[in-house]
Amino acid sequence: PISPTIYFGAFVHSTSLIELELSDKGAIGVDSNGVIAFVERDVENVEDVKGKYDEFKEARVVEVKDGFFFPGFIDTHTHAPQHPNTGLFGKTTLLSWLQTYTFPMESSFSDMQKAERIYSNFVSRTLSHGTTTCAYYATIHVPATNLLADICLARGQRALVGRVCMDSDLSPETYRDASPESAIADSKESLSYIRSIDPTGTIVQPIITPRFAPSCTAPVLASLGHLARETDAHIQTHISENVGEIALVAQLFPSSTSYTDVYDTAGLLTSKTILAHAVHLAKEEVDTIKARGAKISHCPASNTAITSGCCPVRKYLNAGLTIGLGTDVSGGFSPSILEECRQAIWVSRFLAMQGADSAKLSTEEVLYLATRGGAAVVGMESKVGAFEVGMEWDAQMIVLGNVDERGSRDGAFEGLVDVFGWEDLGERVQKWVYSGDDRNTKMVWVRGRLVHSRA
Ligand code: GUN
Ligand code: FE
Repeated sequence: PISPTIYFGAFVHSTSLIELELSDKGAIGVDSNGVIAFVERDVENVEDVKGKYDEFKEARVVEVKDGFFFPGFIDTHTHAPQHPNTGLFGKTTLLSWLQTYTFPMESSFSDMQKAERIYSNFVSRTLSHGTTTCAYYATIHVPATNLLADICLARGQRALVGRVCMDSDLSPETYRDASPESAIADSKESLSYIRSIDPTGTIVQPIITPRFAPSCTAPVLASLGHLARETDAHIQTHISENVGEIALVAQLFPSSTSYTDVYDTAGLLTSKTILAHAVHLAKEEVDTIKARGAKISHCPASNTAITSGCCPVRKYLNAGLTIGLGTDVSGGFSPSILEECRQAIWVSRFLAMQGADSAKLSTEEVLYLATRGGAAVVGMESKVGAFEVGMEWDAQMIVLGNVDERGSRDGAFEGLVDVFGWEDLGERVQKWVYSGDDRNTKMVWVRGRLVHSRA
């Protein structure tokens, strides 16, 4: 248990896709279970609030100055073992990128010392960028995958951790499941282990992870669909990322009517399925995904880096799909969901410049996708993503540079965001979205527990 705490000062969170609540003088009470007990606005003196709530008479106060509290980010798609390859993609596209950079790096995670070093570092990185919940792909290796889950649990980051399943001959013999049977057995082993270390699934949960259709044979896809039904587990995979990949799927699964149909036939489209990319879906595929209640992870940095395409997010939002953001390291070049917010805005603007202005996403909209949208993608929308009574305190303290305060000490404040005193809270949020980074994320909490702070 933690001591009851009042988070005092400005807070910002999404109340809908298009609207942020901006509260200058907030006081949010978090109880000993890390649950939000009250949200007060227009508080001049925190002592007045303490007096109102029995449990908070002696509460600790954490005050934010020159900034605001913001919900923790949700990264709905990333690859922990690919972090060492960040920034390395050259002029490759998906299929050549996988063979050139990705499979060789991932295959080295049979080395547990390497796994420990890289996974610890990557979890630190995502936490320092304010990511309080993360859907991770690991590799095919069960020990290293289980270690990633151990690290997330020890560090207190909410995580879905998936042992990657891939039994087809797309990848080299040295990096693929030996047989359909061993693919399923290893997936079950990792799933059971992750459930055993956190039986309530409060912090870490397993996620069934067929890499993508071309990496898996039809029997393995069907067995994983069966396993998901049996265990009520989450599922994650990639879909319709790149035109070459889509052509390959059509060739490998000739009896399927579409890429989406391959997963649907295998029973892999459920309300707990996260589909990454979804750049080139046909209308019927969108309808099927919607009907199954499957969710979309939008990964704009990656889609631009390996030139996969511009995902039509507005079209999917209009169709009623549930969408979050994913960093997709190392197709994506940053572990930061704030960076992904900017990338989502840019991609929407490129679509707007080539087509309809309605494609443009606003700052409010991308911040929604980064928090409440992502929470819905991972099935935690009633728990995290906003500051509401009954939700858990998964939050970050954002602090911006105050030029007046630092006076002549030019550049003394870490980070790029300068504020001059005249900006209202909405303008401060805009400045943070466009030029903020991890230097502005001073503290991060999950369930009221401090999981990262900058000295
Ligand atoms: N498709 C199959 N595997 C991968 C991967 O590791 N990253 C991305 N972006 N797409 C994939
Ligand atoms: Fe990916």
